[in-house]
Amino acid sequence: MLESLVIRNRSYRAFDESAPIGADTMRELIDLARRTPSGLNRQPLRYRILSSAQDIATMLGNCRFAAKLGIPLPPEGGKPTGFILMFTDREAGSPDTLALKDVGIAAQTILLGAVERGFGGCMLASFDSARLCADFGISERYTPVLAIALGKPAETAVLTEAVDGVLDYYRDGAGVHYVPKHAAKDVYI
Ligand SMILES: Cc1cc2nc3c(=O)[nH]c(=O)nc-3n(C[C@H](O)[C@H](O)[C@H](O)COP(=O)(O)O)c2cc1C
Repeated sequence: MLESLVIRNRSYRAFDESAPIGADTMRELIDLARRTPSGLNRQPLRYRILSSAQDIATMLGNCRFAAKLGIPLPPEGGKPTGFILMFTDREAGSPDTLALKDVGIAAQTILLGAVERGFGGCMLASFDSARLCADFGISERYTPVLAIALGKPAETAVLTEAVDGVLDYYRDGAGVHYVPKHAAKDVYI
């Protein structure tokens, strides 16, 4: 059911390195994303798959996972086994205001597809765009907009109901990750 997929689709930051997601599965996920809605149907999104250990290590050197927790993530031995990098194509004719909405739709679709296949991941906006383009030989035509770390999750993330509007995520002593979400009654205006 979609509700179950949505609930299981948490941001995961530790992975089972013995169960790599593989480039073929990431291509399937991008195939889902390329058929999602797009403002003016300009379809400005482009993708790069990273699946080699070297590329993954390079990308891990350029992004930050849950920096405010102040703990090393992903943990040693728990790295993602793939990344999907998302770009907008300057020549696609999509205004940024629309293209950035497309990014969210496509990224969530990718992650739901990953969860359905027994994987999971984390959207990442904390990276240095210029460094990413230099590291992976991306031309100026494309703007990096989001990275998605992927793999088989090796941690537990639990939704809780936000109390008094406090939305900061946190971990307990066992490393369980808690994510407060607004109560249903609090999301209407
Ligand atoms: C646009 C966007 C950018 C994000 N960037 C990062 C990031 O750079 N690093 C990170 O660890 N998590 C990142 N996240 C994940 C959020 O921290 C996460 O969605 C939030 O804590 C709620 O947890 P949940 O995804 O399990 O609901 C990002 C999420 C979104 C939607």
